Amino acid sequence: MTFPKGFLWGGAVAANQCEGAYLRDGKGLSVPDMLLGGDRYTPRTFCSVIDETAFYPSHQAIEFYDHYKEDIALFADMGFKCFRFSINWARIFPNGDDIMPNELGLQFYENVVDECLKYGIEPLITLSHYEMPFALVQKYNGFYSREVVNFYVNYAKTCFTRFKDRVKYWITFNEINCAIVTMGHGGMGDLYGLGVMDREDVKSTERIPLSKLKTNPQVTFNAMHNQFVASALATIEAHKINPDFMIGTMIAQVTGYPLTPNPKDVLLWQKEDNINNNLCGDVQVRGKYPEFAYSFFREVGVDPSFITKEDEDILYKGKVDFYTLSYYQTNCVTTSKDAEIVEGNLHGGAKNPYLKASDWGWQIDPDGLRFTLNKLHDRYPEVPLMIVENGFGAFDNVEEDGSIHDPYRLDYFRPHIIAMKEAIEDGVPLIGYTTWGPIDLVSAGTGQYAKRYGFIYVNRHDDGTGDFSRSKKDYYFWFKKVLESNGENLE
Ligand code: BG6
Repeated sequence: MTFPKGFLWGGAVAANQCEGAYLRDGKGLSVPDMLLGGDRYTPRTFCSVIDETAFYPSHQAIEFYDHYKEDIALFADMGFKCFRFSINWARIFPNGDDIMPNELGLQFYENVVDECLKYGIEPLITLSHYEMPFALVQKYNGFYSREVVNFYVNYAKTCFTRFKDRVKYWITFNEINCAIVTMGHGGMGDLYGLGVMDREDVKSTERIPLSKLKTNPQVTFNAMHNQFVASALATIEAHKINPDFMIGTMIAQVTGYPLTPNPKDVLLWQKEDNINNNLCGDVQVRGKYPEFAYSFFREVGVDPSFITKEDEDILYKGKVDFYTLSYYQTNCVTTSKDAEIVEGNLHGGAKNPYLKASDWGWQIDPDGLRFTLNKLHDRYPEVPLMIVENGFGAFDNVEEDGSIHDPYRLDYFRPHIIAMKEAIEDGVPLIGYTTWGPIDLVSAGTGQYAKRYGFIYVNRHDDGTGDFSRSKKDYYFWFKKVLESNGENLE
């Protein structure tokens, strides 16, 4: 058994983390434009007004807006079959509630799509990757408002119609489970995922750490429900526009293990797996809320009367065609208060004594990828799976001659690719794999440039210096060999 023919190898980025040009050609402000950078130990801060003297990483990001031709040529050289990128909603509808789309915004993405197709690279588009026009947050409180559902569906239809003959694969929302996963840890998930903010926070002109933004579970879950409905309505429309479209959910895998065989740990692990991973997956793949969602709503004091009969019909009719996931790391789950806690993507947890961690404290677990893929296939045998983010943030050092030696990238990627192959041998219908950040970009969690994911280096730094030039790291050439051999040559 080997990787199937036509396997979608490639890389993934998000508009706000790579494009820059944050107010160019009619674009409006989007949520990440309001965020300052932080680091592993300092949370990013939000402020409702732009401070012209401060450094905002997303305002220039890596200037993909100006470098897209050069970057896509490098992806093609590496042998990409697929490039996942997102459309910045505020480039198309600057205020979110505009009547007409911004033609210059659409043209930019048309150029990006055409550039991909020129090299035979399949575009995979995320419609909202942790952003929406900031005006929708201010005026409507994001997805808490039903009106935003209509604005989103209109935006989605505009994109589907424009690219109906050129783009087959779409994701409605990046990591749609992020607000659940980050619950209890401030408002980052509410803001990134749902555009929801406390009304005092949104008006304040102070800088507020994301971990200190106020939240309210009733508002969060009502907004999440509206987002599910928006996604389902967009999926229904997409299939009318082109029945061959593949519309995907995208769920951050919060894979964990019980820290001990204590049944209390196992029960907690099962509950967390259900809430963090399965709730959103069930709604989007099976088209209905699972029973455990209602007992969880009771537990956190949420009245689920926002789930109407009419909405249930929409969710059922708007089931997705494939399941996409991000996978970076795993951690452990325990009821013990004494366990050592480690960080992770959106979600920390108890330290696993068998795993090593990155410089940002994310535990590296290739076997966990095989486990996760099998678990997902068992639960959702009706849909193909695709890994649309997997990667390793690291500090890179540029030698005097400009070379960058990054063997830690090999140590991360090789076993993860082997784990994928094993999962395919286990019978998992995996259709593709796009690494996160094939080119260095701005970190979503910390706002740093120093947390580098790329096979391609970008000369840009957290102090605002750097000329944005691109260069190839050592393991650029390794990944090219992997892709050229369809995953067979991992040496
Ligand atoms: C995922 C997001 O959660 O993790 C990406 O979809 C993000 O946008 C990636 O960049 C890695 O996280 P970070 O915080 O290292 O950028």
